[in-house]
Amino acid sequence: MDSEQLVKEQQELFKAVPKREKIVNVASVPMRSPFRYAGGKTWLVPQIRRWLKERGGPAIELIEPFAGGGIVSLTAAFENLVGKVTMVELDEDVAAVWRVIIDGNAEWLANRIMTFDLTVDSAHEAIERAAVSLRDRAFATIVKNRVNRGGILADGASFIKQGENGKGIRSRWYPETLKRRILEIALVRDRIRFIEGDAFEVIRENAEREDAVFFIDPPYTKAGRRLYRHSELDHEHLFDLAARLKGDFLMTYDNAEEVRKMAEKRRFDMRVVAMKNTHHAKMTELLIGQNLTWVGKKKHP
Ligand SMILES: C[S@@+](CC[C@H](N)C(=O)[O-])C[C@H]1O[C@@H](n2cnc3c(N)ncnc32)[C@H](O)[C@@H]1O
Repeated sequence: MDSEQLVKEQQELFKAVPKREKIVNVASVPMRSPFRYAGGKTWLVPQIRRWLKERGGPAIELIEPFAGGGIVSLTAAFENLVGKVTMVELDEDVAAVWRVIIDGNAEWLANRIMTFDLTVDSAHEAIERAAVSLRDRAFATIVKNRVNRGGILADGASFIKQGENGKGIRSRWYPETLKRRILEIALVRDRIRFIEGDAFEVIRENAEREDAVFFIDPPYTKAGRRLYRHSELDHEHLFDLAARLKGDFLMTYDNAEEVRKMAEKRRFDMRVVAMKNTHHAKMTELLIGQNLTWVGKKKHP
């Protein structure tokens, strides 16, 4: 894209931010995920609460087919917004962490983190052990997520060089916090089911259910490739599947022309929401659903 086009696109994005829109201060939302996740949805938590207060309840299951760091599922489980949560993730490294925590080995993982002496060498060693066992893979993922720049887990990501306050590789290593988050998730694990698998399959299998709601946050059309190992997907097909769901759904996407077109084609409702990206730049994303009146804002565009 040339610079003129870029400027035009930026202007369009900023125009789309409603004037008095409050940007969520993520510090006011409990951080519950053991992951630092590119595209993490902490900033969306207040909207998720509103959505699930209307569409959730004890008889409802929330399905999060592209779980990643899983902040939406965790919020729903911790705050009893639904009766049951199902998380789905295809990336086997990310899946290993969820499997270990949810299937009963959270204490082992927390202990491994607490007793680990993080250096560049020990990080390499831990990452190389990923293939040894599921537990080792889970630990290797936690290490990678903490020592890679931006927490990026896609192949080819590199270690933090300077880090916060020149602390280098240790600048995002908070063992106590990680331990606490992991053990807290273990306390609600009976409400959470984790599936290592394909989002499309799980959505299809649950399409007829009236007692399920879906939070759908796929790798975006633009930035996906750099951020996730699994980033290629058939967006048109995903929109078609969403249109067939009996239960309610909420999708998030980058606020791009091609995405708006796909939503318009299926007569989905859309809202622009303001957020800050990891570089604290003001950005907008799209919420897409069958009926978004609960968001309480003007329709977009
Ligand atoms: C935008 S991220 C989700 C971020 C998450 N909402 C959060 O707050 O942390 C998308 C995730 O979908 C996963 N993914 C990509 N293709 C998938 C598929 N076909 N099935 C399941 N997960 C998939 C990626 O590995 C990535 O973790």
